[in-house]
Amino acid sequence: MKVLVTGGAGFIGFHVAKKLLERGDSVVVVDNFNDYYDVSLKISRAELIRKSGAEIIKMDISDYEALEKIFRQHEFDKVCHLAAQAGVRYSMEYPFVYSKSNVLGTHNILELCKEHGVKDVVLASSSSVYGNNKKVPFCEDDRVDNPISVYAATKKSNEELAYTYHHLYGLNCTCLRFFTVYGPWGRPDMALFKFTQLMLDDKDIPVFNHGNMKRDFTYIDDIVDGVIAAIDKPFPYEIINLARGECRTLLEYIDNLEKHLGIEAKIDMLPMQPGDVPQTHGDISKAKGLLEYEPEVSISEGVKKFVDWYREYYGIKE
Ligand SMILES: NC(=O)c1ccc[n+]([C@@H]2O[C@H](COP(=O)([O-])OP(=O)(O)OC[C@H]3O[C@@H](n4cnc5c(N)ncnc54)[C@H](O)[C@@H]3O)[C@@H](O)[C@H]2O)c1
Repeated sequence: MKVLVTGGAGFIGFHVAKKLLERGDSVVVVDNFNDYYDVSLKISRAELIRKSGAEIIKMDISDYEALEKIFRQHEFDKVCHLAAQAGVRYSMEYPFVYSKSNVLGTHNILELCKEHGVKDVVLASSSSVYGNNKKVPFCEDDRVDNPISVYAATKKSNEELAYTYHHLYGLNCTCLRFFTVYGPWGRPDMALFKFTQLMLDDKDIPVFNHGNMKRDFTYIDDIVDGVIAAIDKPFPYEIINLARGECRTLLEYIDNLEKHLGIEAKIDMLPMQPGDVPQTHGDISKAKGLLEYEPEVSISEGVKKFVDWYREYYGIKE
C-alpha cells in the first residue's frame, strides 16, 4: 500500500509513518518543516523514517500546484492527513497561519484526493472542537457548534469539508478527534515536554487555571494503533474520538513527572488562558466498536517512557 502521510515530520505523523514502514507499506511524507517549534526535532524524526524507506518532501500543503505534482507522480492508495498548525495559544497570535495550513491545506488535500481517485482519507481533528461543553465524557454526537479558539474552529471546519467531499464525491473520510497526545518524540510546545525542560533547568513551571486543568492524556502508541486501524478500515464518513478515556488533573500528570525525573516541581499557579478549555474527557466506545481500539498505556508508564526518551535524546544523565 502506498500512503501519503502529511505532517510526517511532526510528532504523530512520524510515529504513524514509522509504523506503516515497519509493516511494509510504502510511505511518502509531505511536511513544510515550519519553525513553530525546534526544527531540528522535525529533521531528526524525518531522517529516521527516511532511513527506513520513506520519501520525504518539503512542501507546504497550501500550495495546490506543488501538491498536485506529488499526486500526479505517485498513485496513493490512502492519504493520512495529519499536517496542521497545532496549538491553541499560538492561534491567538497568528490566526491566519491556521486558515492557510488547516483550512486551505485540508481543502487542497481533499480536492486532490477527488481529482486523483484516492478513495480513503484519514484526517486529524481534535478534542478542542468540544470547546466548553459541560457534559462529559465528550461523545461524537455531542453538539460542537461553539469552538472557543481559532485552532478549534479550523479543526471543526475540516470535519465539515470532509463531510462535503464524502457527500458530493463519495470520498471515504474518517476524522479522528485526538485527545492530548504525549510520548517520545513529542511536541516541545506541549505541557509534558515544557515541564520536563523547565524542571531539569530548576525553573518554575506555569500551571494554568490554578491547577484545575483536566485532560484525557493519551499515549502516542495508542493513538498510532487507532490511526492505523482507521487507515485499514475505511468508512464512508465517521468522526471518532481517540483518547485514553480517563480524565486526569494536570497536577497528577506533574506528580508522575516528578516521580520519574526524581525532581520536585516548582509550580507557578496562573489563571485560565483565553481559548483554553478547562477539561477534556473522551468517550471511546465508538473507537472500541468500529476500530477495535483499546488504549493500553497508563499515565505512569507513558510519562516514564517519555522521560527515558528525553534523557536519551538530549544526553541527560540520571
Ligand atoms: N498532539 C496532540 O495532542 C493533538 C491533539 C489534537 C489534534 N492534533 C492534531 O494532530 C495532527 C498532528 O499533530 P502533532 O501533535 O503531530 O503536531 P506537529 O506540529 O508535531 O505536526 C504537524 C506537522 O505538520 C507540519 N505542517 C504544518 N503546517 C503545514 C503546512 N502548511 N504544510 C505542510 N506541513 C505542515 C508541521 O511542520 C509539523 O511537522 C495535527 O493535525 C493536530 O492538529 C494533535
